[in-house]
Amino acid sequence: MESREGIELPESSGRGHCIFRAIHLEFSRMEKIRIANTDSLRLRGTVQISGAKNAVLPAIVASLLTEDTLRLTNVPLVKDVHTILTLMKELGANYDLRGNSLSIAMPRILSDEASYELVRAMRASILVLGPLLAKYGKATVALPGGCAIGSRPIDLHIHGLEKMGAAISLEHGYIKAEATRLHGAEVEFEKKTVTGTENLVMAAALAEGRTILRNCACEPEVNSLCELLQKMGARIENPASGVLVIEGVRKLGGASHEIIPDRIEAGTFLVAGALTQGDILLAGTEPAHLESVTEKLRIAGAAIEIDRDRMRIQGSAEIHPQDITTSPYPGFPTDMQAQFMVLMTQAEGMSIITETIFDRRFSHVNELMRLGARIEVSGDKAVVRGRTPLSGAELMATDLRASASLILAGLVASGQTVIRDVDHIDRGYENIEAKFRSLGAKIERISD
Ligand code: EPU
Repeated sequence: MESREGIELPESSGRGHCIFRAIHLEFSRMEKIRIANTDSLRLRGTVQISGAKNAVLPAIVASLLTEDTLRLTNVPLVKDVHTILTLMKELGANYDLRGNSLSIAMPRILSDEASYELVRAMRASILVLGPLLAKYGKATVALPGGCAIGSRPIDLHIHGLEKMGAAISLEHGYIKAEATRLHGAEVEFEKKTVTGTENLVMAAALAEGRTILRNCACEPEVNSLCELLQKMGARIENPASGVLVIEGVRKLGGASHEIIPDRIEAGTFLVAGALTQGDILLAGTEPAHLESVTEKLRIAGAAIEIDRDRMRIQGSAEIHPQDITTSPYPGFPTDMQAQFMVLMTQAEGMSIITETIFDRRFSHVNELMRLGARIEVSGDKAVVRGRTPLSGAELMATDLRASASLILAGLVASGQTVIRDVDHIDRGYENIEAKFRSLGAKIERISD
């Protein structure tokens, strides 16, 4: 038996849920993360980057499209994976998770419903809508409600599926969708949407005829899903950036697929290196997916070397201010905005951070201000005035990436920083405190 953060993990488990039950019980307690800062902490060492949360979720859901087995490797052991596996099990899937390898099969459907409880816990549960409809002709999925980072409607998913022949209604808070067999259609997304593109590509893979999707999201996680679907027998072409042409087939089969590295986890550690004047080697990354982030970090003064799947960052004593504007890939990711803002609190001068993807993704600002940061928010812009010394305080984590930013701030704040409601961070970062500890941070998880 190996122990990770007090959770007993069997070396290999017959079935994955026992691991996740342990993690779930662990998370259900009120937990906090405490960071004790020692003067001039410089993070040093090597950190292994996990598989991408936002790539593994659609890959797991793709198993709804076949009765055969999908084998996924480099699966991150994060809470969102637990949530999607719980949902998949309710729908009828069998799975076996050993270490970071997952086998999953859906030999027959038990239910076509994604409950409010699960959709509320994780909005990406909406990904089952397209595949259930395409394979089984029916889906009932709770309509996701409000969200900490913005309004996040799913109208574009619904509009696309309706164009493919689905009859969709809203009853008692649930989306009810039906179709005898979806048919191909031309859909132009009004706005780039990551899970919207993924939902429609999966639906189109089994639809009758040709679907052309325009203005698609081009995130690496979308490409990775298309590659998996191609291995399963889907006929997908990508004739131009943002355009996907899918020739529907009757049946898809099993496949093996490695989950791409998590570019946001990697970006978070890169910022940690730049922030602490550290020297960190990231192993198991895909540097090509991080170009917009590394470009900004270099301008901010960090030295970054790249050697195949390894990236080394060395932070500089002086951090230069930078304006950033979030935008769809290959632009600067919204999922790195909060972390970069922390770096800018330590830059010599003023930076303007513009958030164009989500309308309320500044919940970390008030928490950073409790540490002493000088930030003013006006509409979609945050003006950060550096450099301000941060002093440790008790903080509240409000969403996944905001939580990551608070850990980064705690690394450079004097004294002790305690972050409450840390279960947000466990949704998408595997073993975050162990990884930071291995780089020299004094960080631990504590219970109430
Ligand atoms: N939008 C609509 N209508 C829709 C769908 C989206 O107006 O039907 C809008 C959204 O409100 C937003 C924009 O389009 O303004 C982009 O949203 P998108 O649909 O791309 O977001 P998502 O698919 O719900 C994924 C990631 C997020 C990431 C965003 C943007 C997954 C599971 N989630 O969300 O990841 O921030 O793309 O890149 O892939 C995270 O990991 O912390 C996270 C929030």
